[in-house]
Amino acid sequence: MVPRPGPEGRAIRVLRHRRGGPDDPGASATRPTPGGMIGPMTDVNGLSIGILGGTGDQGKGLARRFALAGHPVLIGSRSAGRAREAAESIGHGATGDENAAVAAAADLVIVAVPYEGHKALLESLSQELAGKIVVDCVNPLGFDKQGAYALAVEEGSAAQQAAAVLPDSRVVAAFHHVSAVVLMDPSVEKVDLDVLVLGDDREATDTVQALAESIPGVRGVYGGRLRNAHQVEALTANIISVNRRYKAHAGLRVTDI
Ligand SMILES: NC(=O)c1ccc[n+]([C@@H]2O[C@H](COP(=O)([O-])OP(=O)(O)OC[C@H]3O[C@@H](n4cnc5c(N)ncnc54)[C@H](OP(=O)(O)O)[C@@H]3O)[C@@H](O)[C@H]2O)c1
Repeated sequence: MVPRPGPEGRAIRVLRHRRGGPDDPGASATRPTPGGMIGPMTDVNGLSIGILGGTGDQGKGLARRFALAGHPVLIGSRSAGRAREAAESIGHGATGDENAAVAAAADLVIVAVPYEGHKALLESLSQELAGKIVVDCVNPLGFDKQGAYALAVEEGSAAQQAAAVLPDSRVVAAFHHVSAVVLMDPSVEKVDLDVLVLGDDREATDTVQALAESIPGVRGVYGGRLRNAHQVEALTANIISVNRRYKAHAGLRVTDI
């Protein structure tokens, strides 16, 4: 990783591709190993991962898997005490602090708060998150007697809302369909799942694909531009219906790639 000036002159870290890059004509070449990565290989070793709302099920699940994969993990919360408790429960060197401190310190930041608190939290952290890859896994869903359903979002999707309030960040949408229960289950060594990764910055989506693949069993699959995030977020309502009907923790696999 090499520092380069980011927005407002602050230094940001750039991940070096082992092959390819946004300006490399070979960047779209694939490495079609069965079950392996399908994008350019990006080195995410040592990348520190901050998780806003990391005290919840989803945040702790991701934190556990990334910490097991050797990433420095920083759990964020509205309360530093709750964050430290969550970090202790995860172990493997995870640390905890308030969301703002985590947003400022981590190389890459995952947003894992309920949709209700999403916009206000990101608005309050726009400076800390400037120049960084911000990964949004928020599913704007409502629940009633018929189950889960997708909420309308003015900006189109939670990820587009993040991009609107964080104009200086590199927003990527990913990890919408992972089951927090599976991530936390110590008996699950390999997580049988493709993670759809969406965004408008190819280097950032490559990085998040590689990050997803640091979880054994997971494959990161590029899923399109951020404007197509709505249906990926909304599909979670269908997966919740599958889970209820079949008493499962269902995941997705994309075939023929
Ligand atoms: N659970 C899953 O399996 C799963 C899977 C895929 C995606 N997701 C998405 O991941 C996100 C988190 O899911 P979750 O189940 O972990 O949710 P959660 O437990 O309800 O919330 C996560 C954390 O967010 C913080 N939080 C709650 N309300 C907030 C607010 N108004 N403003 C700022 N922070 C707030 C809380 O931390 P503090 O009180 O410590 O600040 C809480 O521990 C959701 O958007 C969900 O759609 C979840």
